[in-house]
Amino acid sequence: MNTAIVGCGSIARTHVKCIQTMAEHKLVAFADSKLERAEAFAAQYGGHAYPSLESLLDHEKIDVIHICTPHYLHVPMAIYSLEKGVHVFMEKPPVISREQLNILKNIKTDRQLGFCFQNRYNPSIVKVKEMLQSGIGGRILGARGYVTWSRSEEYYTSSDWRGDLEYEGGGALINQSIHTMDLLQYLIDDRPLSIDAMITNHHLKGIIDVEDTISAYIKYPKSIACFYATTSYITDAAPLIELCCENMSIRIEELEVTCFYKNGQVEKLPITRKKGYGKSHWGVGHEDCIKDFYKSIEENRPFFLNLEEIEMTIELMLGAYESGRCGKEIFFS
Ligand SMILES: NC(=O)c1ccc[n+]([C@@H]2O[C@H](COP(=O)([O-])OP(=O)(O)OC[C@H]3O[C@@H](n4cnc5c(N)ncnc54)[C@H](O)[C@@H]3O)[C@@H](O)[C@H]2O)c1
Repeated sequence: MNTAIVGCGSIARTHVKCIQTMAEHKLVAFADSKLERAEAFAAQYGGHAYPSLESLLDHEKIDVIHICTPHYLHVPMAIYSLEKGVHVFMEKPPVISREQLNILKNIKTDRQLGFCFQNRYNPSIVKVKEMLQSGIGGRILGARGYVTWSRSEEYYTSSDWRGDLEYEGGGALINQSIHTMDLLQYLIDDRPLSIDAMITNHHLKGIIDVEDTISAYIKYPKSIACFYATTSYITDAAPLIELCCENMSIRIEELEVTCFYKNGQVEKLPITRKKGYGKSHWGVGHEDCIKDFYKSIEENRPFFLNLEEIEMTIELMLGAYESGRCGKEIFFS
């Protein structure tokens, strides 16, 4: 298939490297509103450069487009591409508002729309999901997700969209810790009843108008989850997910999984380490996630990370912001 990327910034290089591992698919074009960035990608990786998604799709015969632009552009660019008959692989977040979610839910298309929650493909997550499905741990009674990362003033001031609510849609949750919230939801695998959240900005007051810290309490019919994420720490510590189950507790720290059994035994599971492309905190899942997306198109089967699969994560994220902004617990219907 012929493939292209819109948005030639940091994450786009990871997408390039993943696409390049599939000899049967060819990167033919790049678009960026800063044309020189698209030109630099085209010079390095081959293909043509365009100043916009529209001009790229007007001039190239593309089967798949990767959307690697700022958050507010994901949905409009996805809709535009799908209407042109192109399959879409979208970087996270899937939406920045309920209006955008409704737009996605109302799309009528025979093309695939896939979302990049690549951490679901981490070997540690694959292993724990298998364990939970086998029933070995028993029912999940409670869970926690804990993300303590560092994003400096420079991270925001060097960007023309990060830290700006209108373009980013939020901060520590929508941009950094959404993966951990998604993994909690994926592993608990139940419909939440409500979310009660607090958002604040501890360390970049007057510099960003999005949150640098969020905490949330999520109620499920038979369990609860505590969630905390901040970008005000001094380094990017491995995110922690802990599942307290009937028969054991399972702790996942990036690629490490430790089981704490009722009899006091502690076991570190042997997990095959994989190579990631890009920054270490982006994880190692992009390659498997992107390959699976292309395979699903070839095999004409729905891609795993479709809208239905990730909709509850989106609801949790939107619910957390709504709760944090109005100071009320948000109930899901
Ligand atoms: N999955 C992950 O772990 C992960 C990691 C990093 C970034 N991301 C996501 O990837 C996306 C991009 O992030 P980034 O860090 O690469 O940002 P970036 O700012 O480095 O790159 C974005 C690029 O989009 C371009 N752009 C902006 N408006 C455009 C338009 N109208 N048309 C064409 N190009 C346009 C910019 O010029 C820039 O080159 C974000 O949604 C981010 O959340 C995901």
